[in-house]
Amino acid sequence: MSSHGIAGFAAAALASLTPKQIEFLRSLPKAELHAHLNGSIPLSVLQDLSGDYLRDQQSHDDANAEAVRAGIDRLSQGVVFTEIHDFFGLFPAIYTLTSTPQSLAKAARAVLHQFLSPSDDGSPEAAYLELRSTPRETPAMSRLQYLEVILDEVENFGEEQAALIISMDRRMTPEVASECVDCAIKLRDAGRRVVGVDLCGDVKAGNVANFEAQFRKAKTAGLGVTTHIAEIPETPAEEIQQLLSYEPDRLGHATFLDETSKELVRNSNSCIEICLSSNLLCKTVDNLDVHHIRYYLRHNHPIAICTDDILPFRNSLLGEYALLMAAPPLGLGLSEEEIRRVAQMGLECRFPVKR
Ligand code: IMP
Ligand code: ZN
Repeated sequence: MSSHGIAGFAAAALASLTPKQIEFLRSLPKAELHAHLNGSIPLSVLQDLSGDYLRDQQSHDDANAEAVRAGIDRLSQGVVFTEIHDFFGLFPAIYTLTSTPQSLAKAARAVLHQFLSPSDDGSPEAAYLELRSTPRETPAMSRLQYLEVILDEVENFGEEQAALIISMDRRMTPEVASECVDCAIKLRDAGRRVVGVDLCGDVKAGNVANFEAQFRKAKTAGLGVTTHIAEIPETPAEEIQQLLSYEPDRLGHATFLDETSKELVRNSNSCIEICLSSNLLCKTVDNLDVHHIRYYLRHNHPIAICTDDILPFRNSLLGEYALLMAAPPLGLGLSEEEIRRVAQMGLECRFPVKR
């Protein structure tokens, strides 16, 4: 771990910068547009939640408690990924710990504070956070209640600081996906701070064609639309075309778009949510030299620099910006002017709050 509490590529890039360069990055207003709630819980808070859970163990079966212990151990030691699938297996243990209104509220509050509360030097990690989460039905909460718990925490911050995106998971049945978007519209219509929908989850699961009606419904209702897309080289061309046909406002990762899709994306002006550490750690991109961010920078196409999942990736928004600034091979070696412009693009790609 570095002195900034982060590790890996982002930590190495940050460690290579001068105090003056770090000061420049810290003071730059940045938007975090792609952060998954259950992937962004500070480790210390998750350890607390696991302590609470295990203390109350009589009411749980041993297999569950063992899975929680193993999951927390793995996260505490720092997860080493061999490939992207190692990643999705981390969530069942985390989910066990955020399944009641109290524990979910505690997790959401900690994530919001981690990004938005000013640090010692007075500047927050992010000037604006669009947090996203997949509504989960648990014995203690309906999907709607799950979202209300998070929104109560999001709305403790100003409209210019925080909002919620509702994620659908690729494994969801059409009925559940429909319930998620209905909740998004209902909550937004009731004045709650929901600004968009997303599609995420195991990159090989499900069929994205099943989500067409939901994307259309969300768009018609005026919600922002983003989707994870082309995260692995095996993503079928038809899947990419299908997702692009939903006319998303933003795209998560978009690592393996073919030339035709790239053209389409450039013409549509959809913002690309770029998660550098996530791609390097999950080994979907070999190094920054071949990262698709270079293509979009070259074409002056809108991008937003994002963290994805701070908990397993042990990165930070500052660390991701350090990857832009550090000299190659640790970073992209962008100038202050270029980085200022990138940060500005992120702010411009926020989903508007509609009433
Ligand atoms: P949650 O939506 O708050 O529960 O956040 C965790 C969930 O986000 C995981 O179970 C995954 O479904 C999803 N997720 C996080 N990162 C990624 C990613 O990079 N690709 C696809 N899905 C992701
Ligand atoms: Zn993601």
